[in-house]
Amino acid sequence: MKDNRNLVIGIALFIIGVTGLFVLSGMRPSTGGMMGGTMMMDRAGMKEMMKNMMGAQLPPGLDPEHLPDPRSSGAQLLARYCTQCHELPGPGLHTAGEWPSVVGRMNRRMRMMSGMMHDIEAPNNDELRTLAAYLQQHAQIPIDRARYTDLSAPDGKLFEAMCSQCHALLDPRQHTSDEWPSVIGRMMQNMKTVGKQLPDQATLETVVEFLQTHAK
Ligand code: HEC
Ligand code: HEC
Repeated sequence: MKDNRNLVIGIALFIIGVTGLFVLSGMRPSTGGMMGGTMMMDRAGMKEMMKNMMGAQLPPGLDPEHLPDPRSSGAQLLARYCTQCHELPGPGLHTAGEWPSVVGRMNRRMRMMSGMMHDIEAPNNDELRTLAAYLQQHAQIPIDRARYTDLSAPDGKLFEAMCSQCHALLDPRQHTSDEWPSVIGRMMQNMKTVGKQLPDQATLETVVEFLQTHAK
């Protein structure tokens, strides 16, 4: 019984990717809370444990209302399947070129975990296609460097340093001048959530101005 239980924890940790952290820190995984007295971890316990162990590698989370095209089936599948282990990942986290390999990695995890845990479910092939297409359609649009000769000027460098920390450096033309301030406000929130240092007022204003100058 005991061995069996440890095996289940071991496999789960391997799949979610934290085994290395336990080994590194010499910690033993605590079973309190995440086992709930049964053979299986529950989802809330696992989410909490993942946040503690690997918060910096997880998406900071997006309010579902801020998802593009929130009523589409793609948005709904994202909210259903991609919040089982961590917060909701926004499509802007990756470019269309990057998403397929991330989705592939997450899908392999879901398949393995759904075989072990009652309350983890994996999408079927149609759902996975819809989900992946949604992420690609609304993906981050990377900057075309050749079009922005001022990227190497001081203001451009501030923009690059600040806005390429969590995703590809983005194309300023994807928002209007009016839209940028609220998007940047959300990015400040993202920085806070993952514990990045917030820029000072002058830097922030320079970056906002850079984006507005090049806005659509
Ligand atoms: C079974 C648990 C689980 C599910 C379900 C899951 N993830 Fe993850 N996700 C993880 C783990 C663990 C990490 C951190 C390690 C890593 O990046 O592989 C992670 C990290 C991420 C990251 C940040 C790392 C990166 O490469 O950008 C993104 C984005 C992400 N997941 C997207 C998704 C999407 C999209 C879905 C739904 C299709 C999803 N996740 C479903 C476990 C899960
Ligand atoms: C701390 C990490 C982090 C930093 C730093 C960051 N972002 Fe983001 N960004 C995210 C995450 C997470 C998402 C997806 C969730 C969301 O949309 O909030 C995202 C999505 C986006 C999107 C697509 C969503 C939309 O509303 O259009 C844009 C554009 C964007 N970021 C611009 C920026 C700009 C400009 C900066 C620099 C001021 C920046 N980001 C810095 C984390 C970050």
